[in-house]
Amino acid sequence: MITATESKLPRINMALPGPKAKEVIEYDKKFISPSLFREYPLVAHRGYGAIIEDPDGNTFLDFAAGIAVCSTGHCHPHVVQAIQKQAAELIHIAGTDFYHRHMPQLAERLVATMPKSHHYKVFFGNSGTEAVEGAIKLARYATRRDKLIAFYGCFHGRTLGSLSLTASKSTQRKYFGTLLGGVEHIPFPYAYRCALGHTKETCGGEIIELLEEQILKRLFAPEEVAAIIVEPIQGEGGFIPAPAFFLQELQRICNKHGIMLILDEVQSGVGRTGKMWAYDHAGITPDMVLTAKGLGSGMPISAFIAKESVMQWKPGSHGSTYGGNPVCIASAMATLDLIEGGLMANAQKMGEYIFRKINDWPSRFKIVGDVRGKGLMIGVEIVRDQRTKEKAPDLRNNVIVGAFHRGLLTLESGENSIRISPPLIIDEEQADCAIGIMEESIREAEKSL
Ligand SMILES: Cc1ncc(COP(=O)(O)O)c(C=O)c1O
Repeated sequence: MITATESKLPRINMALPGPKAKEVIEYDKKFISPSLFREYPLVAHRGYGAIIEDPDGNTFLDFAAGIAVCSTGHCHPHVVQAIQKQAAELIHIAGTDFYHRHMPQLAERLVATMPKSHHYKVFFGNSGTEAVEGAIKLARYATRRDKLIAFYGCFHGRTLGSLSLTASKSTQRKYFGTLLGGVEHIPFPYAYRCALGHTKETCGGEIIELLEEQILKRLFAPEEVAAIIVEPIQGEGGFIPAPAFFLQELQRICNKHGIMLILDEVQSGVGRTGKMWAYDHAGITPDMVLTAKGLGSGMPISAFIAKESVMQWKPGSHGSTYGGNPVCIASAMATLDLIEGGLMANAQKMGEYIFRKINDWPSRFKIVGDVRGKGLMIGVEIVRDQRTKEKAPDLRNNVIVGAFHRGLLTLESGENSIRISPPLIIDEEQADCAIGIMEESIREAEKSL
């Protein structure tokens, strides 16, 4: 709830970063690993609703949501209360060794979101990459096969197993040596750059053909392939949705060969696209679904949800000290109350509202090549020339940094796209404000053409 002294809209009082923010940045430089990539100098001091306040009293409208994590906004009272109550009762016990009611309670709620044709079971971890690691292990265990197929542009995490799947930016892999063997990447349907001129609904048929006629005939025998792992909307790769038919075709191929179909919904899940899972838009029945980010409203929690027939491993095969932490689960339960109690519907409504207002950006701005996405997972691709579609990461960065200085937080995505992923609580006034700031920033960036 926003109090009288708090605002719903941004207010920048000085040149950024202000003096107190600068102090934190210098402090950080002294002690924190330089591998972290900060796009602009935001220093967060507190958060409420869709607003972040910095230590100098500037307020920002947060359309990044901590990389799509703060699904219910910052410090939602229902979430805060649930965390506080649980923290006073039981903080940790290690679900890997002992029982507590919280794990099956959240698992039951997650299973209730899955297709009714199968029973599913859940394993809890702490981060997206852990969910991916666990899914790789379970797919190998369940199938006794080791080959994995992923997509160019995908991001599945930075630990060595998930990094073997990740094929987003070479910096993320450079100098980290030999990764998992038996991983093959194939193209992801990218309608805006489709060489065959297909649409957002039809792009990808040739990739399915490549998979069936080349990869599964010339490279991997299908009976050696454990899993195909796919983001229904590539997040880090540019907010690129896979067409429904494409996911349905992957399901058909997986069913045919006993390959696990793993949907990485770490970024796209928990109501962000207007449905609980982005794969719901395609009406498929995955073998495993991976979730993290938006599930905990900022508390570190992840899960992989697998068909019971798949999750048949023996005690000791997999575990986690912190996975299923009661406080994180309390946060996730409160998050699901809010998501199912209206925020998922708001994501759909506000997504449609924003799309109506920005769909015509490519005709209004020379540097906007494409606007795409679903619900509140919206990508804007920035190009130097609409005709050649030359990627313009520099202009994209100018737009993002320009928006920051005007009080709007967004993030980069892919080589030259902007990701718009606000908390699911936003209203029309906040959407209009963000659109206004984006338009000003795009106009400003265009001047450097
Ligand atoms: C689709 C997807 N999978 C996995 C991950 C890894 O999550 P984490 O950073 O929590 O390890 C991310 C993170 O951005 C992601 O977007």
